[in-house]
Amino acid sequence: MSFDAAQLREAFTRFFVERGHVALPAAGLIPHDPSVLFTIAGMVQFKPYFTGEQTPPVPRATTVQPSFRMVDIDIIGTTARHATFFEMLGNFSFGDYFKETAIPLAWEFVTGVLGLDPARLWITVHESDTDAGGIWHDSVGVPAERIQKMGEDNFWKMGDTGPCGPSSEIYYDRGPEFGAEGGPAHGGEDRYVEIWNLVFMQYERHTDGTLTELPRKNIDTGAGLERIAMLTEGVANVFETSLVAPILEVAASRTGIVPGTSESGDVALRILADHARAMTMLISDGVFPTNDGRGYVLRRVIRRAVLRAVQAGVTSLITPELCAAVIDVLGGAYPKLVRDRSLVETVVTHEEEAFRRTLRAGTTLFEEALAAGGAITGDVAFRLHDTYGFPIDLTTEMASAAGAAVDREGFESQMDAQRARARGSARTTGGDGGLAEAARAVLEEFGPSEFVGYQLEAAEARVLAVHHREGGADFVNEDGESLPQGSVLVDVFLDRTPFYAEGGGQVGDTGRISGATGVFRVLDTRVATEGLSRHTGYFESGSLEPGAEVYAEIDSARRQAIRRNHTATHLLHAALRKVLGEHVQQQGSLVAPDRLRFDFSHFSALTRDELEEITALVNAEVLADEPVRNYETSRAAAEESGAMAFFGDKYGEIVRVVEAGGASVELCGGTHVGATGMIGPIRIVSEASIGANTRRIEATTGARSLAEIQRVEHLLEEIAETLRTTTAELPEAVARLLERQGSLEDELRRLRGAKVRDEAAELGASAVDGVVVARRDGIDPAALRELALAVREQPGVEAVGMIGAPEQNKVALVVATIPGAGLDARPIAGEVARLVGGGGGGSPELATAGGRDTAGIDGALERLGVLLRKG
Ligand code: SER
Repeated sequence: MSFDAAQLREAFTRFFVERGHVALPAAGLIPHDPSVLFTIAGMVQFKPYFTGEQTPPVPRATTVQPSFRMVDIDIIGTTARHATFFEMLGNFSFGDYFKETAIPLAWEFVTGVLGLDPARLWITVHESDTDAGGIWHDSVGVPAERIQKMGEDNFWKMGDTGPCGPSSEIYYDRGPEFGAEGGPAHGGEDRYVEIWNLVFMQYERHTDGTLTELPRKNIDTGAGLERIAMLTEGVANVFETSLVAPILEVAASRTGIVPGTSESGDVALRILADHARAMTMLISDGVFPTNDGRGYVLRRVIRRAVLRAVQAGVTSLITPELCAAVIDVLGGAYPKLVRDRSLVETVVTHEEEAFRRTLRAGTTLFEEALAAGGAITGDVAFRLHDTYGFPIDLTTEMASAAGAAVDREGFESQMDAQRARARGSARTTGGDGGLAEAARAVLEEFGPSEFVGYQLEAAEARVLAVHHREGGADFVNEDGESLPQGSVLVDVFLDRTPFYAEGGGQVGDTGRISGATGVFRVLDTRVATEGLSRHTGYFESGSLEPGAEVYAEIDSARRQAIRRNHTATHLLHAALRKVLGEHVQQQGSLVAPDRLRFDFSHFSALTRDELEEITALVNAEVLADEPVRNYETSRAAAEESGAMAFFGDKYGEIVRVVEAGGASVELCGGTHVGATGMIGPIRIVSEASIGANTRRIEATTGARSLAEIQRVEHLLEEIAETLRTTTAELPEAVARLLERQGSLEDELRRLRGAKVRDEAAELGASAVDGVVVARRDGIDPAALRELALAVREQPGVEAVGMIGAPEQNKVALVVATIPGAGLDARPIAGEVARLVGGGGGGSPELATAGGRDTAGIDGALERLGVLLRKG
């Protein structure tokens, strides 16, 4: 039976649904989990179920998961089967079935549904795994000689930390024309193609490298859709499948490279096709080209693709067309791509244009370096790589075409240094030690706590647990409030709470928890573990015990200010997209009581007009005083309606949608005002760059804006009063003032000039043998120089030496000579300067020097006279 990609996805899903699995939606490529940069496999979104941190909603699941892996980027195109972006078909068991079921299920699918010839299938198992081989042999009937043991290759881990376990892989033998025999362990890699990885997820790897048993034994499998399509479509590599071929065709027609005529040409086309898929999916999932983290990876992918096109002689933009082809192929399976068509186009267009400019600059650097030294040093090669995105191979290629060498060793050592720097700044996921465990225990015993803070600012609650933290004495909250001397930092857990736990950019609430035996001041509220908040602070009096009935009350005015800022953030987001374009996406935010901060993707600084338009738009929404609505709906329905989501945030199946004003619809768990009018005036306080293609706006609302407006008004009034005018007439008054100052300065210059001329004439007249030596104190070095030059102009004068103390402990010295006088001003100035404790330099006709020893001036003058006359 032959399948197209859509049928493959569907057949896989149906097979596992019929066997008790629930088909869950895929996660985005930006994972919620901070330990990985991208979603690299189907299991990433399920990590908390494997580690036991969260209870899985279902025991068995299946997904089709778009995945992105950077590890293979350098070999893309050189093998038949590697891709950076790919779709992973997977089935998962969360402590439900284990190997004995997972293995036969996989076999049944590949042989029964896909109809792959069992005689061509090979199996690998981990060398430590004593059961898997037996199951393959005894229950499935795979001959023993087609089951091979492997080491590292058959142990799967999510990353340096996280769930992991031995795995077993299914390989398909494509026959002798694709490589050497010997099975997956010894044969050709493009001959024995891995199509499915079954991971027996039973360990967790910790930061110190140790492995501990997971609470339950799980199954995580992953089968690459493109590889399976390669087999079912009977083509030679993943690039010829219906998933990739149409994109490769666009690359071929734009570059003029004919597929199959040269190895390097084929690699270039494959890179273009693969990277186009990756960039399209990454951008649609919220990644934006920047200089670090995910954005840098995207930038690298785009640059690598553009470079291949440039090398093939493509002089106009290629990425927009390639991405359009990707959307045509994948838009059916991923409808969001179709909605994001113009976003993807805008982002890649900007990035390609910018990179083409950089490339031109890099080529200039390359040519200059070549002209200057005849070879490319390690330093230049590194700069070309790091700043201009030139891979070392390109630099080497360009150099060898010009008959020059590249210092590869020097380049590598700089790369090593950079890698070491990167490792040093790698993210570490530490924790609060005992606190996280305490929270988990509370959650296990009592279940999730209820958040009642959307409706209530105070509520009755019961204390579940009280955790005393060690070493928290220097704790300071968002508002700068700290622990009183001698207090201990404490975390209180409640069964229900009106306190909002920091999330979605909104800071945690502060307030009080009071009971019969004590009063607790809450300085901050955070999510302790999914489903449970912790209230962090100190006891103002007494203490509270688990089980105590308490009254939990947030600081109401502070929350009100936070609400204003949160809703204003949404309005700002919508206005930015309206004024600047759909490529504007939230990159981060902070919603605090006194201000809001919004980081977003955009290519350049905002103009004053744009800022004014945005300010006008958001304030118009405020004046319209529209109700702010929120409701819960399914994630799919929310996405369908075009609600904005922040990609780093985790959303469940049921999401909360917040609609504010006429244009803003966002997924948001935060707290908002009831109507836009409550926000009060929104003022944009600053707009700045915080990285490549990322901008930050800070703004204020409500009372804070009013206070700021008043402060500015007051300032203006004060200035007006000083200038004896009104605020309305300030601009003219200041303009008049500046004009007056300008004419006074002109006048001053004229008078000074006249004075210098008079003085110069006088000094010129006192010349002895064409030499003038004089002392002038209290004038700055520039004026002294001007005077000396004016004296040199006087008839009969050949050399001038002037010294003075412009101020206390400072000496200025000028020596000016006329050309042809046979005197070099520099050594004279140098020698004399030493007498006043200084040094200087200049030209043979004009040397200046400075010093600090004013007591030496008279001696210096004398010496000056001697030296000048000697000439
Ligand atoms: N996590 C495993 C892999 O990515 C199986 O899904 O290969």
